[in-house]
Amino acid sequence: GSGKFFVGGNWKCNGTKESISKLVSDLNGAKLEPDVDVVVAPPFVYIDQVKNSLTDRIEIAAQNSWIGKGGAFTGEISVEQLKDIGCKWVVLGHSERRHVIGEDDQFIGKKAAYALSEGLGVIACIGELLNEREEGKNFRCLFSTNEGFCSWDNVVIAYEPVWAIGTGKVASPQQAQEVHVAVRDWLRKNVSAEVASKTRVIYGGSVNGGNCAELAKQEDIDGFLVGGASLKGPEFATIVNSVT
Ligand code: G3H
Repeated sequence: GSGKFFVGGNWKCNGTKESISKLVSDLNGAKLEPDVDVVVAPPFVYIDQVKNSLTDRIEIAAQNSWIGKGGAFTGEISVEQLKDIGCKWVVLGHSERRHVIGEDDQFIGKKAAYALSEGLGVIACIGELLNEREEGKNFRCLFSTNEGFCSWDNVVIAYEPVWAIGTGKVASPQQAQEVHVAVRDWLRKNVSAEVASKTRVIYGGSVNGGNCAELAKQEDIDGFLVGGASLKGPEFATIVNSVT
């Protein structure tokens, strides 16, 4: 693998003040392996609550950010505001934003470039639809505008096959490993050999306490992006602690 194991919990559009307070207290009480970067992404409206109650051991990500500096953009949240409330990361290009909301590679690439330029880490998601896999395509091009990245130091790539997200159909360790290698090849050809070997490539899609250990053993799986199972503190801790 490349660098420190990285596990993110993407809470998506779930939770209430009450359920989140319970989740935070479970996470605060969990024993987490020290050699893992752990990040959670609460819904925007609860970020402040989480920041004020969660242990500093766990960093906070937003689930989206605006493409540039804030201003007259109704309904959007700026990178500057995220930094102001203590976010260190932002999840961009998640399949739900691509396929439900309609964001494209170019838009996502610009958002990523802006967030990086402002010092926010980017968890950049990619992954194929089932029909794309059947046609032999295993992941979409990363970003069409990655040349705008000031640096790749703060980028973590999350490979999330769309057919595995929220379906209970996890990719096999071999399927995931194969695509992670392809992502590194893409980075080698399109960015540099150094970035290809240093960038963490994490897997997401129906990861749970029962299947994480086998996946974590794969050479090129550097961690996980967890949806449903990240809403349960003890199970999320099990996934964090699957580091090998
Ligand atoms: O960002 C997380 C992924 O979409 C995975 O979600 O673990 O519920 O399948 P899931």
